[in-house]
Amino acid sequence: MKTFALVNQKGGVGKTTTALNLAACLAATERRVLLFDLDPQGNATSGLGVNKNDLKSTTYDVIVKNQPISEAILDTKIPDLKIVPTNTQLVAAEIELVSAFSRERRLTSVLSQCENDFDYIFIDCPPSLGLLTVNALSAAQGILVPVQCEYYALEGLSELTQTIEMIQKHLNPQLETAGIILTMYDGRNNLSRQVAEEVEAFFQDKVFSAKIPRNVKLSESPSHGLPILLYDAFSKGAESYMSLTAEFIHRFEPNSEQNETPKEDQTIQNYTQNHIMDHKAYEAIENTIHQEIVQANHTTHSDPLSQKIYKDDEITDSSISLDEINRAIGENL
Ligand SMILES: Nc1ncnc2c1ncn2[C@@H]1O[C@H](COP(=O)(O)OP(=O)(O)OP(=O)(O)O)[C@@H](O)[C@H]1O
Ligand SMILES: [Mg+2]
Repeated sequence: MKTFALVNQKGGVGKTTTALNLAACLAATERRVLLFDLDPQGNATSGLGVNKNDLKSTTYDVIVKNQPISEAILDTKIPDLKIVPTNTQLVAAEIELVSAFSRERRLTSVLSQCENDFDYIFIDCPPSLGLLTVNALSAAQGILVPVQCEYYALEGLSELTQTIEMIQKHLNPQLETAGIILTMYDGRNNLSRQVAEEVEAFFQDKVFSAKIPRNVKLSESPSHGLPILLYDAFSKGAESYMSLTAEFIHRFEPNSEQNETPKEDQTIQNYTQNHIMDHKAYEAIENTIHQEIVQANHTTHSDPLSQKIYKDDEITDSSISLDEINRAIGENL
């Protein structure tokens, strides 16, 4: 399974936050990841620091105008994370595609152009079950459904399940519900716990055990155009997305368990030699970032998350600035 659509027709449940941060965490482990912004609101686009008003080629151009996807793919601050950006122009696609040939499969053929270039593709869907979402469900192998731990959380899920069944029957028999992600969870709150229990009772092992807490850093990071990993790697929000990533790897890369564990001593040496941070800072990163992935024994792509982001030569090569890194680290020591 490689292409995942983040779907829930309910608005504001954490689709974009999850798409963006899961994609960023996976890319930080050197998996090649594409985030495809299929929501005319363009929140994934701006959340990764891309200016929506200054785009040469967008999701609209590749889906409606048949432009090659290679012209729309942009770099981000994480070297292995790319994005196909969008803006409000995509609203027109819902209307223009109605009369188009093979209108439900446009995205499938667009993504086939680049499937060998990425280990994972995440599609951030709009809060509706319109033609754009149908395109995403036709193109994806797995659906990830963020469910907000609030009143009415389950509302609409039966409609979503029916849509999925219809797509499986008529357009994409491969499609599976890959996972349910509980978002904005507050363990001190009865309602939050009740919703989590209900969702777990219904969807059982489809529900990821990593719950995403309500965390102010997660809501601040998009306005800085940064994934949580670069905005505040030590926040509870970052920790939870790292746990989710470890679980995701465990679930979808079962063979990766056979791989070696990373060479941690070498990583420590890199850190201290480069004087990017002191040993204490390194240890803190070890505990918050790296541990989750190592614990789950998922090291297919060998480099630990922290090494990828903070290693000296990576900083030179990538557009991650030392200031950003120091701020993320400094604030949390
Ligand atoms: N765990 C969280 N803690 C705090 N704020 C969050 C969290 N997850 C998301 N948010 C904030 O809640 C709002 C909605 O989240 P998000 O945009 O990810 O939802 P969405 O499902 O993509 O929304 P839409 O349906 O409009 O596309 C955003 O302002 C986001 O920053
Ligand atoms: Mg969104």
